[in-house]
Amino acid sequence: MIYIKTAEEIEGMYAACELVSRTLGEVAKWVAPGVTTRKLDNVAREFILDNGGRPACLGYQGFPGTLCIEVNETVVHGFPSGYVLKEGDIIGTDCVAELRGFHGDSCYTFAVGEIDDKVERLLRVTKESLYKGIEAAQPGKRIGDISNAVQTYCEKAGYSVVREMCGHGIGKSMHEDPEVPNYGRKGIGPILKPGMCIAIEPMINMGSKNVVIESNGWECRTRDRKPSAHYEHTILITEEGNEILTTFRYIEEALKGETEIVEPEK
Ligand code: MF3
Ligand code: CO
Repeated sequence: MIYIKTAEEIEGMYAACELVSRTLGEVAKWVAPGVTTRKLDNVAREFILDNGGRPACLGYQGFPGTLCIEVNETVVHGFPSGYVLKEGDIIGTDCVAELRGFHGDSCYTFAVGEIDDKVERLLRVTKESLYKGIEAAQPGKRIGDISNAVQTYCEKAGYSVVREMCGHGIGKSMHEDPEVPNYGRKGIGPILKPGMCIAIEPMINMGSKNVVIESNGWECRTRDRKPSAHYEHTILITEEGNEILTTFRYIEEALKGETEIVEPEK
């Protein structure tokens, strides 16, 4: 069943989404060659706890992290580990924070140092496809309109869309109805109504769309081991259109800070 949020519930969603956005902003400060993915996970967990939230992925059906860690060919649900990031890697960090009973869900894929131009294009197109999906998420339109907008944009650029994982409704639970696939036909699926909250999250592969799940039952990677990118926002459907409840602003501020060149004092 699809929940329509009350004004009070929407306030709760705003707060949870602000927390997860700030959390990824903290993570962004640490993404660099030489840093382990476990360090990033610790930063995220401590930030959420320090701000009165709960890391919702940690312990979810046994998942062992606050962040899902998605290095290079990992599509989703990778575990934090002792893996040391190296120049040229990409890393997706997918995070859900619960605050006072509501969930905010967001994901950002970072470049670690300088990356290959081709991989940079994959990141750019995947992020743009998220905003294409959001643009299509208008009241009175349907889930399939979002799906089709993401798929069309990515496939035109020469990439493929992962089929096995979808976006989703979100609220008092991390995953609510409806499912929000990143592929499909216009005009099908549930109608979008004001008060609905959904997480849109394109998972886009440079090579084929095929994925495999590792023997731990969680970690999902591309079958051809080519890179995969993933960005996610939680949004609210409104009377006029939609509002993006999460934001990449804190991430972008952190990334700018990192490249600032500090002249040595004379
Ligand atoms: N952000 C992920 C999602 O959108 C969170 C699920 S990861 C899990 O589905 F570890 F909690 F399962
Ligand atoms: Co999600």
